[in-house]
Amino acid sequence: MNDRLLLLRGTMPGIGMAVAEACSHRERLRRICSILSEIPGYDWVGFYTVDRPGGNRLVLGPFSGAPTEHVSIEFGRGICGRAAETMQTIMVGDVGAESNYLSCSPDVRSEIVVPVFFGCELVGELDIDSHRPDGFSPDDRRFLEWVAEIAAPSVAGLVRGDDGG
Ligand code: SME
Repeated sequence: MNDRLLLLRGTMPGIGMAVAEACSHRERLRRICSILSEIPGYDWVGFYTVDRPGGNRLVLGPFSGAPTEHVSIEFGRGICGRAAETMQTIMVGDVGAESNYLSCSPDVRSEIVVPVFFGCELVGELDIDSHRPDGFSPDDRRFLEWVAEIAAPSVAGLVRGDDGG
């Protein structure tokens, strides 16, 4: 097993504990962002939630990293909007080569956006920016798809407006 995969796997128990122990959906997602932001190359980590059940706009939820102007994104716009529209994970190795891209910082070189599903419904996304070119491997993708699955009930809770969690 390579070092990167060991490192990613090493965060899984902490993420599991954060999910089990936090007392609200928002706090759970905040803790997940904080743990992920410690991983080298994960330079901005955040959740977007769908604006309302069945909605077509993403709104910024808990995140770790610099504040972003992109607090509300229509489906179809940027990498986030495209991942929402297609309901597929999108990995971009070189954001500079993308025409449909919303820049948060000139330091960002690559990005991954993983849709979050609750049952069959798209409820949000996990978005990570990296200052490294080609910052995400297939192992990162599988790991982040796992994170998206365990975060899904909390993302869905925020969409329903229920933070009781
Ligand atoms: N780069 C994203 C916008 C969100 S920020 O990365 C935080 C996009 O193109 O959709």
